[in-house]
Amino acid sequence: MRILLLGSGGREHALAWKIAQSPKVEKLYIAPGNAGTCQEGENVPLKADDFEGIRQFVLQQRVDMVVVGPEDPLVKGIYDFFRNDEALKAIPVIGPSKAGAQLEGSKDFAKGFMLRHGIPTAAYQTFDGEHLQEGLRFLETLQPPYVLKADGLCAGKGVLILPTLEEAQKELKEMLGGMFGQASARVVIEEFLSGIECSVFVLTDGKDYKILPEAKDYKRIGEGDTGLNTGGMGSVSPVPFADADWMKKVEERIIRPTVEGLAAEGLDYKGFIFFGLINCDGDPKVIEYNCRMGDPETETVMLRLKSDLVDLLEGVAEGNLGCREIVFDPRSAVCVMLVSGGYPGSYEKGKMISFDHQPCDLNGNTVVFHAGTAMKDGQIVTSGGRVIAVSSYGQDKTEALSRSFAEAQKIQFEGKYFRRDIGADL
Ligand code: AMP
Ligand code: GLY
Repeated sequence: MRILLLGSGGREHALAWKIAQSPKVEKLYIAPGNAGTCQEGENVPLKADDFEGIRQFVLQQRVDMVVVGPEDPLVKGIYDFFRNDEALKAIPVIGPSKAGAQLEGSKDFAKGFMLRHGIPTAAYQTFDGEHLQEGLRFLETLQPPYVLKADGLCAGKGVLILPTLEEAQKELKEMLGGMFGQASARVVIEEFLSGIECSVFVLTDGKDYKILPEAKDYKRIGEGDTGLNTGGMGSVSPVPFADADWMKKVEERIIRPTVEGLAAEGLDYKGFIFFGLINCDGDPKVIEYNCRMGDPETETVMLRLKSDLVDLLEGVAEGNLGCREIVFDPRSAVCVMLVSGGYPGSYEKGKMISFDHQPCDLNGNTVVFHAGTAMKDGQIVTSGGRVIAVSSYGQDKTEALSRSFAEAQKIQFEGKYFRRDIGADL
């Protein structure tokens, strides 16, 4: 099979690493990829949302399947673009239709969907600029802290959690006044939930689904979960509280009603669903849906997926996922993210990265995934805030962490920072 994978982060390197291991793959292309993905396949200089460029490439190179890493092309309708094109319509795209991708693309849509299907989530109301006064009054009826969410995609910056009513009311005015442009033309105000978060992933062909290994990610820049939010500083899988009983609740109360709800509403969905969950006194609730895999969760989930990923993707494309087998690796996996100095604020790019080994698979226990890296004059340099994801296996989380930390020390670039407390709360 000839596969084109779209995206350029650590998630995509991890997906490429796993796809490239499949005996079913004849050729893997990654667009645009990074300095690590070219170890797994061939990088193609096309942006993940350049639909016309992708169209030409897919036809020229006789690509058999397109796997979409990030949400952007999905929310913009790449699935529908393929389905509506005579020459492309037979080529499967792994990812939902534009309508299905609203689970991530519109917080208000996702909340309404959960309400319609009885899926547990925080109580909420949505307001637009014409209903600012009602929104301000609604805030007065809630207890602090206050959760405000821009309806549309904001590259992970659209959720504000405010400690006081005054701050919440001020931010609501700013959001509805265009703080995030069109994305905050509507704002979801919701009840604050407290508990530990966990990310659960499924792959669905629209009828059946397979649950992938769960993971926990670490979003804040500082140790002890302090400081600003980032794209993710590390992840751990398995998650101890996500035991068989808890996962049974997740499947019965959340996963099954979601997959059935999508089908019942006629939303074409063949791809990954990411359930951002919170454990409220033993009961799982949905914080958010995403229409793709998580980053940096994929950098541990792919290590723990023993089955051939391409076989599962084929099941999605052919609508017979129910007949495919999914097997997990019983070992633990962790990921420690190395980031640029200054991130998530401003930071410099183009710093030379030195590895003291061949950068990918080390002795079978550690895998170095690239996130924000690029090639410049034959050198690997930093090109983003999150630079390298160091993932490791271990008999337990402690062993896996010690391997990732040891490797993290050896990779050098100016300003390198990583959290040393990944997994310490579990
Ligand atoms: P989201 O983009 O919806 O995942 O929100 C980003 C982060 O904000 C989540 O991962 C949570 O840590 C936090 N968050 C979002 N909604 C809530 C809520 N209702 N209660 C508590 N924390 C929340
Ligand atoms: N790790 C959270 C996300 O990918 O959105």
